[in-house]
Amino acid sequence: MARIITITSGKGGVGKTSISLNLSLALAAEGFKVCLFDADLGLANVNILTGLYPQKDLESVISGRAALTDILIRDYQGIDIIPGSSGVERLADLTRPETGTLIRSFLDLDAYDFFIFDTSAGISSQVLAFCMASHEIILIVTTEPTSLTDAYSMLKVLSKHGYDSPVKVIVNQVAAGKAAQKAYARLKQTVTRFLPARIEPLGIVASDKNVRASVIAQTPFFLLFPETVASRCMAAIAEKLIRHHGKAGDIPLELFWDNCLSFLETHSPRKNEKTRDARTRETASDIGERLSRMEEKLSFLVKEMADIRELLETLVPTVARTKEGPCPEPHKIILDFESWLAAKKG
Ligand SMILES: Nc1ncnc2c1ncn2[C@@H]1O[C@H](COP(=O)(O)OP(=O)(O)OP(=O)(O)O)[C@@H](O)[C@H]1O
Ligand SMILES: [Mg+2]
Repeated sequence: MARIITITSGKGGVGKTSISLNLSLALAAEGFKVCLFDADLGLANVNILTGLYPQKDLESVISGRAALTDILIRDYQGIDIIPGSSGVERLADLTRPETGTLIRSFLDLDAYDFFIFDTSAGISSQVLAFCMASHEIILIVTTEPTSLTDAYSMLKVLSKHGYDSPVKVIVNQVAAGKAAQKAYARLKQTVTRFLPARIEPLGIVASDKNVRASVIAQTPFFLLFPETVASRCMAAIAEKLIRHHGKAGDIPLELFWDNCLSFLETHSPRKNEKTRDARTRETASDIGERLSRMEEKLSFLVKEMADIRELLETLVPTVARTKEGPCPEPHKIILDFESWLAAKKG
């Protein structure tokens, strides 16, 4: 049994990979056995930060050309790393035998205390599947409003799929403690107001020029600059994570993968495409039914847009209000879906 933690964000480039890698190292420094799963399909993934360029990845395991133990990078500075790469993309489209091969392959691994998933930016079905199957999620945000609105969207999607554990939040690239507190408070307030989701603070990571210097050196900052402020933040976060050990996070890896792949089975866009092909033989009453479902979705969207407008006002309060009260001419938000619909109808 391992504590399985998925590191995610709404917006890209907020520091998921930097935190996944350095947090893994900070946990290993405390004597824990850690495996980092690189599920980031972006450019700045674990390979770049470590200078490791493996020949094989999860794709080789799925297609039966290698065992999971063959692709595992053992003992990189005290942690093990699984390169997911192209294999992660394939996860959305596995055949039944491939699913079996993948789940069984995780039985060959050693026991880990922590299994950390670094995910790609955006709300793809793979990212969602990792989140839904983990019992612990760390959401990375920065103090920028766009990062907060994207984090909110991520929480909204998670709660729509029934995720109900508290999501741990790290505010990264923080220039001043006050700004981090304010950003977290805004997110918390909006989430509490609009969503059934729960969030809790895990920590902050200061903006630190040594983080970028370590990218150039292809050596994690926690190792290259152990005393730099970002490393101290990582050590504090690791310590808090270790101290707050709810048993909920401990699940067998096979069960995690089973849950993850089952989620993809029902939510993969490619699988849905196949279903759509079958729809070419629809009858008139099927089409009527589908039209009314679309109408339902459309009115749901209109309601969502109203929520988003309200959310934008909460996150950027100065846009719509003045000190004296509401502006005589309120700021027109471009995302005015209702007017667009009305114009279309007219
Ligand atoms: N605390 C920090 N201080 C300074 N720079 C940082 C900090 N955290 C991350 N960065 C820088 O921000 C950039 C993006 O970081 P990173 O690649 O970890 O983000 P990401 O969320 O994984 O991106 P993606 O969404 O593309 O996967 C990198 O250049 C990294 O060095
Ligand atoms: Mg990344």
